[in-house]
Amino acid sequence: MTRILSRRAALTAAGVAALPAVLARPDRAQAAIAKRTRVYEVGDARDGINLRLAERPMPKPGPGEVLLKIHATGLNARDLSLMRRVRIFGGPGDSPTRVPLDDNACEVVALGSDVTRTAVGERVIVTHFPLWIDGDWDDESMSKLDFSVNTDGFLAEHIVVPAQGLVKIPDSMSYEDASTLPNAGLTAWHAVVEDGAVRPGETVLTLGTGGVSVFGFQWAKMLGARVGVTSSSDDKLTRMVALGADFTVNYRTTPDWHKEVLQKTGGRGVDVVLNTVGISEMERCLMACASNGRVMLIGSNPVQRGGPATEAVGLREFPRGMIMKGLTIKGVIVGSRRMLEDAVTAAHTNSIKPVIDRVFPFAEAMDAVRYMESGAKIGKIVIKVA
Ligand SMILES: NC(=O)c1ccc[n+]([C@@H]2O[C@H](COP(=O)([O-])OP(=O)(O)OC[C@H]3O[C@@H](n4cnc5c(N)ncnc54)[C@H](OP(=O)(O)O)[C@@H]3O)[C@@H](O)[C@H]2O)c1
Repeated sequence: MTRILSRRAALTAAGVAALPAVLARPDRAQAAIAKRTRVYEVGDARDGINLRLAERPMPKPGPGEVLLKIHATGLNARDLSLMRRVRIFGGPGDSPTRVPLDDNACEVVALGSDVTRTAVGERVIVTHFPLWIDGDWDDESMSKLDFSVNTDGFLAEHIVVPAQGLVKIPDSMSYEDASTLPNAGLTAWHAVVEDGAVRPGETVLTLGTGGVSVFGFQWAKMLGARVGVTSSSDDKLTRMVALGADFTVNYRTTPDWHKEVLQKTGGRGVDVVLNTVGISEMERCLMACASNGRVMLIGSNPVQRGGPATEAVGLREFPRGMIMKGLTIKGVIVGSRRMLEDAVTAAHTNSIKPVIDRVFPFAEAMDAVRYMESGAKIGKIVIKVA
């Protein structure tokens, strides 16, 4: 009884809306949970994305785990590769039954034994790498749990995850908005706030208008930076100006976009670049930098094979520019739970609203994928599950 009362007290203190009586008692809540649940699997297709809807037994949380009802998920660039069953970053990438997507916003519906850091009914997001709580990244141990790569992801009605990966959603934040934070929001936070260490008055450049870049733009504006944005589309740049972009460059009509960035910054260049594209744009990113500039390498488009290494990666001016300007290149990998907690707090405190282009219902997940593939969106695409 003491345990139930303290859970209720915790929920009230957290401002969680009154729960149905059946859910306020974990033992009864367990009994009320359906026996089966639905997921999308990546399927067998080899010639594009063809998700298949499947029914599975309701998973049960083990010690230290929680069962979550998923309210919202969404798409990130890497999901397209995973759904095409392309192997990425050491994951198997080839299982037809894999459930894709790592964006998420959920509700706790059942607790395994030994779970004390959440309660039934709590609204939560799950951090991208649940084994990375804080401190330095360790590829060997922390990537052992990578949603949709080596364990099932969130394009599903329910999922079981380790409770240590949960971050509470503020009452004022919708499930749709919160679902954009575990991947794009967190990666951009890591790049701008943690590793980029952007200071007020500095100038930041974001490449393109995808999920990570638009969040990078928002975090950098929050910190008092000037922000330039590139895009392939004048319409998208107009939308970014409406959101507060300080200068823009169309990289399609201006392939040497770094020259225009230099011109638009009075010849000085920018302090931080979010390279969300990859090594093919690295030299232009370096050339767009002011002295002591920092390039955050986030995208990983493939390095061309063959030819001299410097030509293959397009880094002819690389050593000279790096040394003469005192530049830094830093690889950025999503982020820790502590960083996600900070990002959620900052979004809440500063009323930062994620830029969501469109929300699709669960039943239309394939339409969401097609829209993502069209390249028409800016910011995020969300899939509302419940
Ligand atoms: N390191 C990590 O941990 C991490 C985490 C998340 C994402 N990523 C990577 O970051 C990248 C962005 O992810 P996302 O989910 O934000 O992607 P997204 O939402 O699909 O956005 C991709 C955007 O990239 C822009 N783009 C494409 N080619 C470009 C070019 N040559 N120059 C400038 N912009 C270009 C396009 O912008 P326009 O339509 O405006 O032209 C496009 O909308 C991906 O490579 C992804 O794999 C890495």
